[in-house]
Amino acid sequence: MALVNRQILLKKRPVGVPTAEDFESVEGAVGTPGAGEVLLRNLYLSIDPAIRGWMSDARSYLPPIQIGEPIRSGTLSQIVESNAKGWPVGQIVQALAAWESYSIVSPRSLHGRVQTIEGIPLPAMLSVLGGTGLTAYFGLLHVGQPKEGETVLVSAAAGGVGSIVGQIAKVQGCRAVGLTGSDEKCAWLIDELGYDAAINYKTANLRVALEEACPDGIDVFFDSVGGEILNTVLARLNYHGRIAVCGAISQINEAELPPGPSNYLQLLAKSARMEGFTTLDFTRQYDEARMQLAHWIREGKIRYRDDIVEGLDKAPSHLLRLFSGEHRGKLMVKLADAEV
Ligand SMILES: NC(=O)c1ccc[n+]([C@@H]2O[C@H](COP(=O)([O-])OP(=O)(O)OC[C@H]3O[C@@H](n4cnc5c(N)ncnc54)[C@H](OP(=O)(O)O)[C@@H]3O)[C@@H](O)[C@H]2O)c1
Repeated sequence: MALVNRQILLKKRPVGVPTAEDFESVEGAVGTPGAGEVLLRNLYLSIDPAIRGWMSDARSYLPPIQIGEPIRSGTLSQIVESNAKGWPVGQIVQALAAWESYSIVSPRSLHGRVQTIEGIPLPAMLSVLGGTGLTAYFGLLHVGQPKEGETVLVSAAAGGVGSIVGQIAKVQGCRAVGLTGSDEKCAWLIDELGYDAAINYKTANLRVALEEACPDGIDVFFDSVGGEILNTVLARLNYHGRIAVCGAISQINEAELPPGPSNYLQLLAKSARMEGFTTLDFTRQYDEARMQLAHWIREGKIRYRDDIVEGLDKAPSHLLRLFSGEHRGKLMVKLADAEV
């Protein structure tokens, strides 16, 4: 029987937060991989803020998704047909593919062979041991460079990346303080993930709350939000402080970029550093980082939460939860089980 490819396409570019009208669901035949290509059956989709960036026509580290193309996405996929040497049928891979049941890609879009790790479920290879955990690991350890006894502040702390960052900070012997958008999430950060303090940035006076939660100032700020939060934190940064620029979700839906942080001269006053990064800067160290993260999970030093819904049609509404903050941990969509 011929395979059917269900896809979710970009119908039009969103203005502000995406809506259901920006997506279109279609069905078609599954193509045949060309020379050097593989056919993937997509098992899990990674729901990331970066997808919103690719839906606009602004230049980024990857080109925009074109109207009529399937929504680009990180995936956990299984190779079902292969014309690429070294990528056998049956192999599970991390890939840059799309919101569709099947994708044809070249090995350039295959970001690693997935070796299942005993005691760790498969979807974790896309979350805590995939791009999400790797972002937390490299951004904090390589860019933020925390030292024992220092204070690490994390924005979007209850999300996929942030929930791992604070726990790695604790492993390094730091004080971990999280910013998030509800009292319930603050309690989760402290009670379940071991954060030392958490601030509901929606209800607190952030300047005052930071004085209380970070009495010795802030040595490392792992920032996924940008905007006014970044501006306020800059004023409390310590001498030789570091800001790891992971993302700016408060600005991702803005048509016009707001002015930069007016407090940026605090970097000068504190001889501080603000540095952006993507995980692509560290591809050669992925395996080593995954092994370390898996070790910390087994030791019980890192806990993670995957928020998974089933069915391709749920992908657009799951994406919107990134902006409403109605989730904890990593968002994913399950499409299929791996075949053994
Ligand atoms: N540099 C890299 O290589 C890389 C790789 C992956 C992800 N990232 C970045 O990492 C960040 C987190 O990604 P994720 O996938 O883990 O998402 P996430 O943190 O699970 O979800 C985003 C969270 O951001 C918060 N948020 C949304 N809008 C906000 C606003 N206007 N102001 C303040 N907070 C807001 C919400 O939580 P609250 O309830 O707390 O508001 C939401 O839960 C994003 O900025 C993403 O772009 C970077």
